[in-house]
Amino acid sequence: MTTKIITLANRKGGAGKTTAATTIASGLAFRGKNVLLIDLDGQASVSRWLGLVRDDGAFALLTLDVSKKPVAEMVRSMVISSRRDHLYVLPGSEKTYSAVNILSGKPISHLRKVIASLFFRGSIDYIVIDTQPGESFELQTMAIWAADYLIIPTACAQSSLDGLYSLWETAKRMKAEIDPDRVWHGAVLGVLINEYEQGKTTSEETLARVIEKCSQEAIMGPIHRAQLFKQMEGQGLTLWEKDPKSRAAQEYNAILSKIIRLS
Ligand SMILES: Nc1ncnc2c1ncn2[C@@H]1O[C@H](COP(=O)(O)OP(=O)(O)O)[C@@H](O)[C@H]1O
Ligand SMILES: [Mg+2]
Repeated sequence: MTTKIITLANRKGGAGKTTAATTIASGLAFRGKNVLLIDLDGQASVSRWLGLVRDDGAFALLTLDVSKKPVAEMVRSMVISSRRDHLYVLPGSEKTYSAVNILSGKPISHLRKVIASLFFRGSIDYIVIDTQPGESFELQTMAIWAADYLIIPTACAQSSLDGLYSLWETAKRMKAEIDPDRVWHGAVLGVLINEYEQGKTTSEETLARVIEKCSQEAIMGPIHRAQLFKQMEGQGLTLWEKDPKSRAAQEYNAILSKIIRLS
C-alpha cells in the first residue's frame, strides 16, 4: 500500500489528540502495519508516554534542508524504535516550538513534501502525526495539509465546540482552495468524540450539536470517559497493552477498522 498520513488536530488542549495519536498508531502496529508516529508537540507527550527519550527529531524534520542527502539521512536516523513491534517514533522536544518561526513564509505543502521525500519510499504503511494546540497555527495548518486523513478529536463538552467548528471550517476552506498548489488533497476522516458520558445531558447535547454541524457519518466513537486512559498514560502503556478487552479498546478498534478499510 502507499503510505498514508493521519493527522490528529484540534486547536484546543485536552481534546484527546495525544491519546488518540498514540492509541491509533500503536493499534495499527499491533495489527501488523508499519507505523511511524511523529511527535510534533513541543511538550513531547507521545515520547514521554511511550517511555522514550525526548529528542530534536521533529525540529530537524521541520527546519533542515532534507533535499541534501546527508541531512535526510541524519533526520531518518533520528527515528527510534518504540520497543514495540512495527511502531517507530520521531521524537519531539521543546525545540519544536522554535521551529515555528522558521516555518513562516514556507508554502503550506512544505511539511508533506518533506515527510514524503524522507519516508514514502520505505515500508511504512502509516504515518501518524500528533500536533500541538495553541498559537502555532502555521505548524498545525501544515500538519493538516500534510494529511491524507484528518481526525479531529474533541472533548464531549460545549466549551470544546468552538475549537472543533473552527477546524472544521479550516478543512473545508483548504479543500475549496482555487490555487492548485494550495488545494488540500486529503479528507476529514472524522470527528472523534472523546470523554463521552452516556446519560449526561451536557454530553448528549454536545454530541447532538456535533452531528447537526458535521453529520452522523463524520462521527467517530464516541469514546467514553474512562479512568483507564489516565492510568495507562501514567504507566507508559498503550491501550492494547493495558486492557485490550476493555470497552475503550472495542471503541478504538472500530476506528482502526475504519482507517484500514479506507486505505
Ligand atoms: N476517553 C477519556 N477518558 C478519560 N480521560 C481521557 C480520555 N481521553 C483522554 N483522557 C485524558 O485527558 C487528558 C488530555 O488528553 P490528551 O490526549 O493529552 O489531549 P491533548 O493531546 O488534546 O491535549 C489526558 O490526561 C488523558 O489521559
Ligand atoms: Mg497532546
